[in-house]
Amino acid sequence: MTFELSPIDKAKFVAAKRATRYVESGMKVGLGTGSTAAWLVRCLGEMVRDDGLRIKGVPTSSRTAQLAREVGIEVISLDEAKWLDLTIDGADEYDSDLNLIKGGGGALLQEKIVATASDQMVVIADISKQVDTLGAFPLPIEVIPFGWQTTKALVEETLIGMDVLGRTTSLRMIGDHPFVTDEGNHIVDLHLNRIGNPRQLSLVLNQIPGVVENGLFLDICDAVVIGFGDGRVEVRDINKGAVEEERYDFLEEGNLFTDISD
Ligand code: A5P
Repeated sequence: MTFELSPIDKAKFVAAKRATRYVESGMKVGLGTGSTAAWLVRCLGEMVRDDGLRIKGVPTSSRTAQLAREVGIEVISLDEAKWLDLTIDGADEYDSDLNLIKGGGGALLQEKIVATASDQMVVIADISKQVDTLGAFPLPIEVIPFGWQTTKALVEETLIGMDVLGRTTSLRMIGDHPFVTDEGNHIVDLHLNRIGNPRQLSLVLNQIPGVVENGLFLDICDAVVIGFGDGRVEVRDINKGAVEEERYDFLEEGNLFTDISD
């Protein structure tokens, strides 16, 4: 069974494939969450199976843990790993300084803890995630269930003093029920449209009791691997100040995974 991938899936796939070059045998690797990160996990699983790659993976969600085990990656906890060589994860937005919004999949808390405990963080994304200014994508914050409505009201009040264009907030739902994170918390999405001062906003949000963490990843990402639907890949490395470009021509039959679900 073969699939004709959509341009967006091709872009995610080539970004993930290119990012596997950061991974070396013996590494402890943080495994991100989301549809792009799922491609990475499948690629790494193939390398474990076919190329003898030896890695220990620290997943950033129960979904990723399940997929990693399915594809044959050894899974360990962050406490077992203590510190990681590398984390590779997707993002909802990245700007020219490689600051990010993450948490569209609701895994921002584990993602931020894991990325912060890594020597290097590499983001994999399709070009649609690139923005001049963060904030078009709703900023997720993880809040504890106790008094979440009060926390949400406090967040809204706090936003009045912030350099943002929108100030509405919404509790993330799955059907009729509030979304519950792997840590048993809820997500409130902040519809800000434009975030003028992400650093200030992040600090202020995290000072509100009831807010566990926010989805702004500032000064955490080292490089972004950007995939395009035609097989091109661009790598921007903040430390090297370099931009590399290349093209993958291996999207032919038999070289892709048949399971493309998240
Ligand atoms: C998960 O909570 C998110 O941070 C994801 O990394 C982000 O939403 C990107 O997901 P996709 O790769 O599915 O776009």
